[in-house]
Order: sequence, then C-alpha cells, then structure tokens
Amino acid sequence: MDYSIEIDKLTKIFNGKVTAVDNVSLKIGSGQIYGLLGQNGAGKSTLIKMLTGSLTPTSGTAKIAGLDLTKDSMKIRKITGVVPQDLTTDGDLSGRENLKLIADLYGIPKKEALERIDVLLHMVDLYDVRDRHAENYSGGMRKRLELACGLMNTPEVLFLDEPTLGLDVTTRENLWKYIRSVQKEFHITIILTSHYLDEVDALANELSIIDHGKIIISGTSDELKKSLKGDIITLKVKNDDEYSKLEKFPESLEIKRMETGDVRMKVNNSDEVLPKLMKFLGENEISPEAISIRKPSLDEVFIEYTGRNINSEAGNTDYAKLMMGRR
Ligand SMILES: Nc1ncnc2c1ncn2[C@@H]1O[C@H](COP(=O)(O)OP(=O)(O)OP(=O)(O)O)[C@@H](O)[C@H]1O
Ligand SMILES: [Mg+2]
Repeated sequence: MDYSIEIDKLTKIFNGKVTAVDNVSLKIGSGQIYGLLGQNGAGKSTLIKMLTGSLTPTSGTAKIAGLDLTKDSMKIRKITGVVPQDLTTDGDLSGRENLKLIADLYGIPKKEALERIDVLLHMVDLYDVRDRHAENYSGGMRKRLELACGLMNTPEVLFLDEPTLGLDVTTRENLWKYIRSVQKEFHITIILTSHYLDEVDALANELSIIDHGKIIISGTSDELKKSLKGDIITLKVKNDDEYSKLEKFPESLEIKRMETGDVRMKVNNSDEVLPKLMKFLGENEISPEAISIRKPSLDEVFIEYTGRNINSEAGNTDYAKLMMGRR
C-alpha cells in the first residue's frame, strides 16, 4: 500500500509536564479521508501541528509523502495544506484578497494564482461573494473560505483540524459536501480531526480514536463497529449488590461497570435477550432506574475503547455532581 503519512512514535510533552501526544505510530494510506476522532484535549491539534511543522516533536518522527518531518520541512510545507482549528483568514479582506495573500506567500506566479483563485472560489461556492469582506461571511462561508485557502498550493496532503467546529448541523452537513468533492476532484489525502462522531462516520474511509494523546484503535468505521461483537444493553443499577447479581445473568457475553457507574452488558441479539433479562431482573429483585439498548455504532465504539462518552468531559469529571455535593 502507498502511504501518504507514516508516523513513528511521535510524542509531544509541553513544559516537561503535559504529554499531549503520547508515542503515536500510524500509517495513513494515500488518496483517502482519514479521521482522527477524540474528545477536547485528546491531542488532535498537537498531532496536526507537529505534522505540519508548526510544533517540534519532543521525540519520534514522521514522513509525509515520503519526506522526513525534521529534514525536509520546507518541502513538506510546499506539498501540504492545512486548515487550522482557529480561523486564519483576515476579516478585513475579501474572500478573493485572502486567497491572493496566500498565493503571494507561496510565491505562485500572478496569472496562475488568479486562475486558481477563480477555480477555488467556484469550488466552494463563494465566487459570487468573492469581493465581500470575510467578516461579513456566514460561519459556513468563512469555513469554506478557509478550506479554499488550504488548497491554494494544490497540496498532496490536506489537514483539516475540526473543519466544522461550532457550526449548526445543516451547515456542517453542507460543508461535508465540499470536503468530499475536494477529495474527489484533487485525489488528495485528507486528514481530518473531529470530536463529532457523525462527521467522522460520514466522511472518513478509515479512522483512529485518540484519547489522552494515544491512539486507542484504528480501522474503518465498519471494522470498529464489528469489533464490538454484539448489541449493548446499558443499565443504571442502584448499588454494588445489584451489580453483583447482574453479573450472573447467563446470556451476557461481557459485563462491566463504567466510570459513570452505568453497567454495560454485551449480548448476541438484544431482541431475543431482553425478555430473558427482564425476567432475570424480576426474579433477582434488581430494579434498574434505566435500561437502554443500542446496536453497534461509532458512539458505542468510542465508549467501549475509552470508557467514556465522547460528549462527556475529558477525564470524566462530573461537575454537576460535584457542585450538588457542595450545596
Ligand atoms: N502550547 C501548549 N502548552 C501547554 N499545553 C498545551 C499546549 N497546547 C496544547 N496543550 C495541552 O495538550 C493537550 C492536548 O491539546 P490539543 O489542543 O492537542 O487537543 P485537541 O484534541 O485538539 O482538543 P480540542 O478538541 O479541544 O481542539 C491538552 O491537555 C492541552 O491543554
Ligand atoms: Mg484541537
């Protein structure tokens, strides 16, 4: 297989204390959209910043399109595009002026630059508003301009760090359309970070879950879902005694207690098992406050491998509970 990115034990420790990226090794095949999925603070942006040369790794190395991160940084800059998490376009400039600025930074000859700018403006549907100040663009339009900026140097590899952060659902889905068409038109490799499960599920051919700076698991979304091997029943039990009794339920393939206290049980076929479980609960005087059944999904994959829901705080601090405890 042809790899666009080969990461070898990349680590970033800030101030000798905070290990943001922890010994990450990963190979990313060419010509695909690859997702890095993780909670806030998981280390996604730090990893991208190292791969795009804006942060020096503490240790480890990587190759981008066969070029060594430390030795060939100038060449890497030429063949990669990056759309950072925070906006980089200038609100006082028009969409077209922003693109011209990037073209100048890359030293692209004027005629070629103007042609490319028009192509890109059409591609992200901003041609009609090309002379409007970027600060007057909607959130989605601004992100599309950022996307076009990342493509100005016709990169082989494009990094998109949280490309739809803060946008509403409809605008996010609309932006996915542009990301897909960019990948298709230019046949490039796109590395996309996100903490939106639906985004990674919808866009990425393959993905890795990153948690506390480490790659926890990698594969296609289907492979990860299949790795769960069964449906998941979640129960909210009252105490340890109820949990101990529940552990004896014969149909459970696997049972564990989550950091949240919820019990997570894997079963072969929840439709068949549920009536048996209800009978077992009655016979053993277990009365859970809540029961939910879920088929394998990327949400469940994330919970399985990190022990937390992606929407929970990193480290799983229950601030609401802490506050209530203090009252
Ligand atoms: N310049 C820095 N100095 C010190 N610590 C940092 C620095 N940049 C990031 N960190 C820490 O490194 C960890 C990873 O941060 P990072 O921004 O890479 O996470 P992320 O996955 O991109 O999160 P988010 O989803 O919020 O963007 C966090 O604990 C963060 O506080
Ligand atoms: Mg980030």
